[in-house]
Amino acid sequence: MAKSAGPIARSVDVVDQWINERAGVKAFYKQHLSEYWAPKNLNFWYIFGALSLLVLVNQLLTGIFLTMHYKPDAERAFASVEFIMRDVQWGWMIRYMHSTGASLFFVVVYLHMFRALLYGSYKKPRELVWILGVAIFLILMAISFTGYVLPWGQMSFWGAQVIISLFGAVPVIGPELVDWIRGDFLVADSTLNRFFALHVVALPLVLLLLVVLHLAALHEVGSNNPEGVNIKAKKDSQGRPLDAVPFHPYYTVKDIFYAGCFLLIAAFIVFFWPEGGGYFLKPDNFVEADPLVTPEHIPPVWYFTAFYAILQAVPNKLMGVILMGAAVLILFVVPWLDRSPVNSLRYRGWPSKIALGLLVIAFVRLSMLGLSPDASIAEIRFWSVIYFGFFLLMPIWTSIEHTKPVPERITT
Ligand code: HEM
Repeated sequence: MAKSAGPIARSVDVVDQWINERAGVKAFYKQHLSEYWAPKNLNFWYIFGALSLLVLVNQLLTGIFLTMHYKPDAERAFASVEFIMRDVQWGWMIRYMHSTGASLFFVVVYLHMFRALLYGSYKKPRELVWILGVAIFLILMAISFTGYVLPWGQMSFWGAQVIISLFGAVPVIGPELVDWIRGDFLVADSTLNRFFALHVVALPLVLLLLVVLHLAALHEVGSNNPEGVNIKAKKDSQGRPLDAVPFHPYYTVKDIFYAGCFLLIAAFIVFFWPEGGGYFLKPDNFVEADPLVTPEHIPPVWYFTAFYAILQAVPNKLMGVILMGAAVLILFVVPWLDRSPVNSLRYRGWPSKIALGLLVIAFVRLSMLGLSPDASIAEIRFWSVIYFGFFLLMPIWTSIEHTKPVPERITT
């Protein structure tokens, strides 16, 4: 400490030292920011992890304010959301930040997952980072499903009715399972209460834990990069990877810049396009839930529709449910399906490039088909086969395709 330091600076130093002797904040800061060595070539695709964190914080904060006014009661839930929209100061903005935030969460998470497929980020030694990511994805789906029921509009009610009834396909215990999940003989107040508890307390806690583990696992093994070069192989005399830069300030500045751009787009949506043309908030959900009036068409929100289409690919309900579950669960084993000796698509052969392109087209097309009331079942089947083919045939083409040699150092 400099001799000229004033009393305030001295007190700050004393507190700083006291905390660090007990909690190691500085060591944490060094390990995860100022001396976390990140590859120097991380590109645009690497911003979506930070953006997922940003949206997560938005969902938590806006969710807390919504909970202050929302009533988890089938008689009052719909009216309490209307109250938030019309009478609570800035309530409409908080509600739209939360509802469009849910869609934006899936946008950034899907792009984040695509990046992992593009650069083989799930391959050894990052299998656990990926597995935790897939677990996060499952919890996100559960959070958005339980949250969608809370406004108690027509889509909330009938969407819950359709999805919960899928559990009825489970052999033997199906019907009892459905009653157990609902807590009643139809979607009712008890369903709303438990979905509220799950959406507001239980699932966010699990999500936060998984996100912390996801980042801890990543920081243990270090980030992959667009070239797929292992930066830990070449270090200087002090043990610092030659092709890396400290995460802070290099990537904090980059992430903050992109976070600013993202917030501009998000603000535009919240202020001028909050219902997203019916994709973010469906018109039917502005009508209060009525168990006696079934809407003509009950599609889920856009981010579920690819899986919802796969559900319809076979006439048998149980098989449909199994296929839909398999479409998500198969992601867990991707690190073991990929036998390629290289990480990044840049050094893989054309079969990998065509396969990933087809997967993206299949996913987008299935998402569109899942939204449509009169989609062709033959087309749903075709794209479902392409979707599953990507994963099931991966061990074959990744073993036989010709790959290019990966450079020892990052040169781009
Ligand atoms: C709440 C959701 C999530 C958050 C907040 C999150 C956060 C992050 C962050 C901050 C990073 C480091 C920066 C980056 O590489 O972009 C990262 C890396 C990674 N994430 Fe996630 N993530 C989430 C969901 C997922 C999901 C759903 C998956 C896959 C199923 C996934 C797979 C990965 C992988 C494989 C990496 C390492 C990438 C590499 O080093 O190339 N994450 N995540």
